[in-house]
Amino acid sequence: MSTITSTQISPVTSLFLNDVLDGLMAEKKFLSSKYFYDETGDRIFQQIMEMDEYYLTDAEMEILQHQTDELADVIAADPSAFDLIELGAGDATKSVHLLQALLNRQLEFSYLPIDISQHVIEDLEENLPKKLPALNVEGLNGDYFAMVKKAKSMSGRRKVLLFMGANIGNMDVVEAKEFCKALRNELSPEDLLIIGFDLKKNPRQILAAYDDAAGITKSFNLNLLSRINRELDGDFEVEHFDHYASYDPESGACKSYLVSLKEQLVNIGDETVRFAQNEHIYMEISQKYSLKEINDLAMETGFTPTAHFFDHQKYFVDAVWKVGK
Ligand code: AVJ
Repeated sequence: MSTITSTQISPVTSLFLNDVLDGLMAEKKFLSSKYFYDETGDRIFQQIMEMDEYYLTDAEMEILQHQTDELADVIAADPSAFDLIELGAGDATKSVHLLQALLNRQLEFSYLPIDISQHVIEDLEENLPKKLPALNVEGLNGDYFAMVKKAKSMSGRRKVLLFMGANIGNMDVVEAKEFCKALRNELSPEDLLIIGFDLKKNPRQILAAYDDAAGITKSFNLNLLSRINRELDGDFEVEHFDHYASYDPESGACKSYLVSLKEQLVNIGDETVRFAQNEHIYMEISQKYSLKEINDLAMETGFTPTAHFFDHQKYFVDAVWKVGK
């Protein structure tokens, strides 16, 4: 037996390390918001969803609670059996309403939640059957595209994809277009995509949702620096960074930054990163759309918009897109 002398680094950790160093050694520093969601990040995001300023969750919840039957009608218009695949399912608190409505109609379908968090998938597989005993659940832990491919190999049923929560907002418009095209290429004619967008609205209201008075969004961003300290042997002093949010009503880009409050050196493993005073790290985009921009995006990526579900204030839309013309 050989003795292991080097420290064992998992592939997941080395990917995280690579991405962090790429971003912090770049001319204009950036980190990826996909790394916000460790256990602490998940907890802070729960707090964000409960904030007065964060209107998104309530708006989409209203849609799922009050227009579930109409949404179920759209899915049931095709009487054939289907797989309902949810990208980034989280705790599925919103989708439960839709699942219940589909079960009530005695439709033949399976629910395949996809999430990058193993923890989330285990939770769903344990708890969903308690809430919805008649539901067929098959959790898929991994990357969206790999897991959509896996779902396709598991059954030839038509697919209904759910991508809610304005998660597409974490891509800029160019990335969103590439993403929709790639999704389209995995789907067949008559498959459906149900996709949630946060709509353009009063700029102050949008900015407040990402710049809350209590500083919860600030701690959400700073947690990524703490996570780097914990997992990648970093020594960020988070009190020397401030959070700055901006919203541009023209482009609809809402962006978050962390700003270095002094000149400082930060070690991450064997590397050292220098921050100038007031240098920023670009952390996250939450892109907002007009209805026209959403319809254009559908058309440009091989979909046809077939229905729109709004909350009563028109803050949010869940759009139904059919594959093909
Ligand atoms: C989970 C991507 C929908 O962009 O609104 C909330 C994440 N970031 N506050 C969003 C988030 C800061 C959220 N999404």
